[in-house]
Amino acid sequence: MVEKSSGNKGEKTAISRRRITLGILLGSLAGAFGSLLALLKVLSPEKKGGGYEATIVLGDRLVYAQGEKAGTPLRAAALKDGDAVLAYPVGKAQNQANLIQLIRLKEKAFKPPTRLDLTDQGFVAYSAICTHLGCTVSWVKNQTSPDTSFTECFCHNSIFDPTRGAKVLGGPAPIPLAQVGVKVAEDGVLLFTSGFIGPIGPQV
Ligand code: FES
Repeated sequence: MVEKSSGNKGEKTAISRRRITLGILLGSLAGAFGSLLALLKVLSPEKKGGGYEATIVLGDRLVYAQGEKAGTPLRAAALKDGDAVLAYPVGKAQNQANLIQLIRLKEKAFKPPTRLDLTDQGFVAYSAICTHLGCTVSWVKNQTSPDTSFTECFCHNSIFDPTRGAKVLGGPAPIPLAQVGVKVAEDGVLLFTSGFIGPIGPQV
């Protein structure tokens, strides 16, 4: 009777040990799996931008995006201080990600973080796609003080400061509109000098 009882006890102890070992093993595997998932998330962060992929390249000419002049080249003389127009790179208007707002202000109006090397003769350009949910932005001109004009998205009233790298002044937009380089060529037409230097499209 005593031996039988002792044998059962030994078997139970061995089973308990096996269960503990299995538990530790499963716990370690779960931990390793969690770490692997975290690593994959860091390596492949969630993609924002709403699928907007711009194709602007250095040397593309700017053309009007709207109105009677749509598709025709933009000339520097057409914009005065405080004016802005929507524009595309020539031949690439079918891709809305390429839509930009070209703005002319006095050069001295620009402050950091505006990239001055991407401006020319008071011209600065930003993505025209709001970084909140992707509406097209509009220009609000101050007739009496043109350099205090600003960009607004009327969908949910986000406001951007064109003199400070399109910094968000109000509303739900999470980040500025990305700047893109422009310059005036010798014949007076406007050219792109870079692609966008930041993310474009909805960032929420
Ligand atoms: S889409 Fe521009 S503020 Fe919401």
